[in-house]
Amino acid sequence: MEAQEKIQGNVNNEDVIIINRRSFFGVLLGIGSAGMGVLLGVPVLRYVLYPLYAKSKQDSWSLVGPMEEFSNLDTPIPKSITVTQIDGWRKVVSPQSVYVTKGPDGNMRVLSSICPHLGCSVGWHKGADEFTCPCHGGRFAPDGKHVFGPPPRGMDNLPHKIQDGNLMVRFEYFRENVPNQEVVG
Ligand code: FES
Repeated sequence: MEAQEKIQGNVNNEDVIIINRRSFFGVLLGIGSAGMGVLLGVPVLRYVLYPLYAKSKQDSWSLVGPMEEFSNLDTPIPKSITVTQIDGWRKVVSPQSVYVTKGPDGNMRVLSSICPHLGCSVGWHKGADEFTCPCHGGRFAPDGKHVFGPPPRGMDNLPHKIQDGNLMVRFEYFRENVPNQEVVG
């Protein structure tokens, strides 16, 4: 009888050991699968969420024109440019207007035609020798300095450079209706 109990006891212990090993490997497999899932899921999640956290940015410099066109800046020269913007997965190509003019120091300036008040399009009035905004009557000097009306600052200066004899500009958007030029995109 005692020997039978001993045998029974041995069988139960082996069962426990086998069950424990199975549970252990099961847990290990579960952790491994979960880890693989995370490893594979993170890149997919980043791809899907990319447009939400990616900041819109300019793709490159835009061509304004050959430098010979700007040898005489006695009066501002209007130019149309093509701006390429990367916004998440989207590539947006849009036309914009700029003015090439002379600053108070005599150096070349490229001004955005977007009014710094509320974003209307500023035009050059040759007769009056000033820029005017049709929306609320803002006026600016030929170098872009604010002269009159509600705009809280002068016309926005854009970064520019000369490359292979061409004038290039980096078009930027600025916060409206604030006294200082703040880039927003
Ligand atoms: S938008 Fe130009 S003056 Fe208001």
